[in-house]
Amino acid sequence: TPSINSLDNFTEEEEMLRESVKRFATDIVAPKVREMDEKESMDPEIIKGLFEQGLMGIETSAEHGGSESSFTSAIIAIEELAKVDPSVSVVCDVHNTLVNTILRKYGTKEQQDKWLPQLSESKLGSFCLSEPVSGSDAFALQTRAVKAGDHWVINGSKMWITNSYEAEIFLIFANVDPSKGYKGITCFIATKDMGIQIAKKEEKLGIRASSTCTLNFDDLRIPEENIIGGEGKGYKIAIEILNEGRIGIAAQMLGLAQGAFEKSVPYTYTRKQFGQPVGTFQGMAFQIAQAAIDIESARLLTYNAARRKEEGKSFTKEAAMAKYWASVVAQRVSGQAIEWAGGLGFTRETGIEKYWRDSKIGAIYEGTSNIQLQTIAKFIQKDYS
Ligand code: CAA
Ligand code: FAD
Repeated sequence: TPSINSLDNFTEEEEMLRESVKRFATDIVAPKVREMDEKESMDPEIIKGLFEQGLMGIETSAEHGGSESSFTSAIIAIEELAKVDPSVSVVCDVHNTLVNTILRKYGTKEQQDKWLPQLSESKLGSFCLSEPVSGSDAFALQTRAVKAGDHWVINGSKMWITNSYEAEIFLIFANVDPSKGYKGITCFIATKDMGIQIAKKEEKLGIRASSTCTLNFDDLRIPEENIIGGEGKGYKIAIEILNEGRIGIAAQMLGLAQGAFEKSVPYTYTRKQFGQPVGTFQGMAFQIAQAAIDIESARLLTYNAARRKEEGKSFTKEAAMAKYWASVVAQRVSGQAIEWAGGLGFTRETGIEKYWRDSKIGAIYEGTSNIQLQTIAKFIQKDYS
């Protein structure tokens, strides 16, 4: 075990999963990382591989084609994929921690029987909450759903939707009764062939292989039975799932930080200047030691939040802390990793600079860093006033 990974309270099954994801990431993903980043597109073989490895239904029951593993297993998979490519990691993260989880937690038996096997086997999912007018203020969304006989008709736009370029199944949050404010928000499940339009694919600073698109719904007709969790329950579903999902993003940022560290640090012990490996100068050695502390702290926060969730304990504050801190650590460590490798770190060739570009997203999606601080602050105010 590398010295920056001291956590060892994983089950045998979780350790086995870590090893198999590591193999997949190293053998199948790693050779394609640079090309996918430059082309800004995900190789379909990678998505296919994620399904074949059983990584797209990690917590889903075997009956529904899943691996029936723990939440921590999902976190492990996200972390290990992010060490090699944070873009591939977020494909797996959104599909498992947001899309599958909503169906497992709030879907009826009929909905689970219908959708979960498809999501485990081959069909990619998207979680569509944000809109041009509503990001942090997510419950101010404007997409409307109007009942028309045995269907709902949805009109509006979503923005920033991960996986949406490749996805076939979409969870859409729309308001069925704006007079009730956010208590009109409802979660619908739809398929691409119902008429979801991909309007624009973003060109991004980082996680460029992961697709992020604007979607338009122009009289999108959805059968009545496709409401998940009941009318007006969508806001609670969205935020409860995001509370969990934030642990996934913490794991992505943790893996990213460790991936950057592992790419750069060994080089510092081979590169000599002034007759000495550069990594052994105290100025460098202390930075490396501090980065190891940063990574360790992000790891403890992330897995503590994951275990608390798994054990049915409160975890919202811990998840916000993990996501906030792992994002800080990812940005800091990946930035230092570039400097440790000197000019080489600044080139595309080593792949270190990509971690730094990818790290910026941690402070933005699934609730910006300010939203995490606001969540933590609310708990502190409640506890101490
Ligand atoms: N957990 C549970 N419930 C919460 C909650 C939390 N963390 N935060 C708020 N709520 C509930 C409140 O209890 C309240 O419900 P009731 O009326 O039933 O009591 C309701 O939400 C409204 O509460 P507030 O007025 O305090 O909340 P708000 O409207 O000011 O903001 C929020 C709420 C929109 C959830 C905001 O805090 C937030 O988290 N914004 C960020 C949105 C976000 O994370 N988007 C991510 C999109 S998905 C994504 O990004 C995926 C990806 O990239 C990979
Ligand atoms: P804004 O909310 O406009 O925030 C701008 C700035 O204001 C931020 O710094 C923010 O912290 C600050 N701010 C806002 N409100 C407050 C406040 N109350 N207090 C203090 N500061 C505040 N969404 C989905 O639904 N599904 C997805 O799959 C998805 N994937 C994404 C992938 C990418 C690559 C990106 C960039 C975004 C994705 N999002 C997704 C959207 C993402 O969740 C939002 O971008 C995010 O919640 C921030 O919203 P915004 O961009 O509108 O920024």
